[in-house]
Amino acid sequence: MQDASMLQDEILHLKKKRNAIILAHNYQRPEVQDIADVTGDSLELARAAAAMDGDVIVFCGVDFMAETAAILAPEKTVLLPAIDACCPMAGMVTADELRFARVHHPGAAVVCYVNTTADVKAESDICCTSANAVKVVNAVSEDEVIFVPDKNLGQYVARFTKKTVLPWEGFCLVHDRYTPADVARAKQAHPGAVVLVHPECRPEVIDRADHVASTSGIVSHVKTAPETEFIIGTEIGILHRLSKECPGKHCYPLSEKAVCVNMKKTTLAHVRDALVTLRPRITVPEETAARARRAIERMLAL
Ligand code: 13P
Ligand code: SF4
Repeated sequence: MQDASMLQDEILHLKKKRNAIILAHNYQRPEVQDIADVTGDSLELARAAAAMDGDVIVFCGVDFMAETAAILAPEKTVLLPAIDACCPMAGMVTADELRFARVHHPGAAVVCYVNTTADVKAESDICCTSANAVKVVNAVSEDEVIFVPDKNLGQYVARFTKKTVLPWEGFCLVHDRYTPADVARAKQAHPGAVVLVHPECRPEVIDRADHVASTSGIVSHVKTAPETEFIIGTEIGILHRLSKECPGKHCYPLSEKAVCVNMKKTTLAHVRDALVTLRPRITVPEETAARARRAIERMLAL
């Protein structure tokens, strides 16, 4: 087995040769985050995919993220190094189910979380991420909003709008597992620490947090806050960025069990192989991509 630094050197060489950029989500393995051009949350990575030069995008994340990049940059070769890295929540709503829901709520806008398939985005009026969900819902003209697929994010958004939000029944297997008992335990272990959680957490966990934000929102908060101790209620991959970018701050996981197995599937060897073979490539049929792009670009324009 090659060691990490040899693989990293090989990747940097191949990246130049392929005129590639590497995007990594905040939950990726530390060594994968370290070779990325941009590490960020879903919104930052979508913006980077739309704006960056280069011929190839190596997307170290999960399927819907690479699909979003392929929709926004159809002229580029978009690679998902671990082809089985998927987001189970994105599979919790289908385009057929959404069409059916629209029939029952003809006057409602459909807001889809970015954690959805291209087919679902194509059926939606506008997309959102955890960083801008409240803003997006408040920006649509309809008074009723079908929000897919995360019920927790949907309920969180409902706190900040006068609109009627109809949350779907989906959830994240990682964030939905946190309980108020986890918060109580972490606070007991670290009295005085600020509790930061992701909006994919259950309402009763959100109620016990000091601050709610996207993954990059959590990093920004820790960087700028005057406090020095934080309990972090999101996937533990974020702790790597926090330790690199927030020296002098102490961050503790709300639960050590908060691991997204799909986000951990991408290894340096996968990234190297993807750059050698230009596979696995993610493409979206243009008919679907054009409709999905409308929903994503409406979000990016806000
Ligand atoms: P962020 O957009 O906040 O990074 O969240 C993505 C995600 O999958 C959270 O589980
Ligand atoms: Fe999907 Fe949850 Fe993993 Fe994010 S952490 S990719 S929402 S399963």
